[in-house]
Amino acid sequence: MNKTSKKENLEREAFYEFSVGIRITHWIRAIAIVVLIVSGFYIAYVFVSPVITSEPTNFMNAKWRATHQIAGFVLIGCFLFKTYLFFFDRQSHLERISFKDALNFSILRDQLKYYLLLSPKHPHLKGVYNPLQLFSYIMFYIALFVIVLTGLVLYAHVYHEGLGGLLYTPMRVVEHWCGGLANVRIIHHIAMWVIIVFVCTHVYMAIYNAVRGKDGTIDTIVSGYKFNRKS
Ligand code: HEM
Repeated sequence: MNKTSKKENLEREAFYEFSVGIRITHWIRAIAIVVLIVSGFYIAYVFVSPVITSEPTNFMNAKWRATHQIAGFVLIGCFLFKTYLFFFDRQSHLERISFKDALNFSILRDQLKYYLLLSPKHPHLKGVYNPLQLFSYIMFYIALFVIVLTGLVLYAHVYHEGLGGLLYTPMRVVEHWCGGLANVRIIHHIAMWVIIVFVCTHVYMAIYNAVRGKDGTIDTIVSGYKFNRKS
């Protein structure tokens, strides 16, 4: 590659992809998920024990569970707000038209070629997500929905006042669909593992695309801007 073509290849134009609402919910959700995974592992298998004091009880388990529940409701808030943004935010139309890209077979084919290193060029997209990315995000949202629903069933069993009391009757129905409380726990766990696999893949792909595409992929979720090749 000579100097001129190298320079042309590096020419970029800034493109506004993600609104501030999308970016903020992304990072709050990321923090909530990390807190939920750590505290969830503790609830499932108590891996630390409290310092022995003269106090009759130090509520360590209750504090871990409270942390889990607070982060859980933060996650629910983000989930609801993000769903609202997806349908009603003007900037989110770029997310919505990703579904059109997903139905275009040539984009899927070119995307596969790019990931299999058979082509150096990323296909041109109308939306913000490529078809494979969109599919993994749909799976993630399904796992999120399942973990929220089963989380609320567990919540209604450990807290009976206020919202817990209000949710008790409808959540008993969900518990019945799952085949009992033991199954609810198992489903909550399985959804957690789906989320863990998603998060690892998501971080890997973000770094991979940033390094290979040199278009500021990671920047999009910080500043909102992507830097697309001009040619
Ligand atoms: C990424 C999201 C989440 C992860 C990774 C996660 C993980 C876990 C895990 C591993 C457990 C232990 C289950 C057991 O063995 O008994 C648990 C329990 C629980 N989770 Fe979640 N969870 C998440 C979201 C939520 C949400 C949204 C809520 C709703 C408030 C919630 C409420 C609960 C409750 C109430 C328990 C039972 C606490 C207890 O038994 O004392 N979780 N979670």
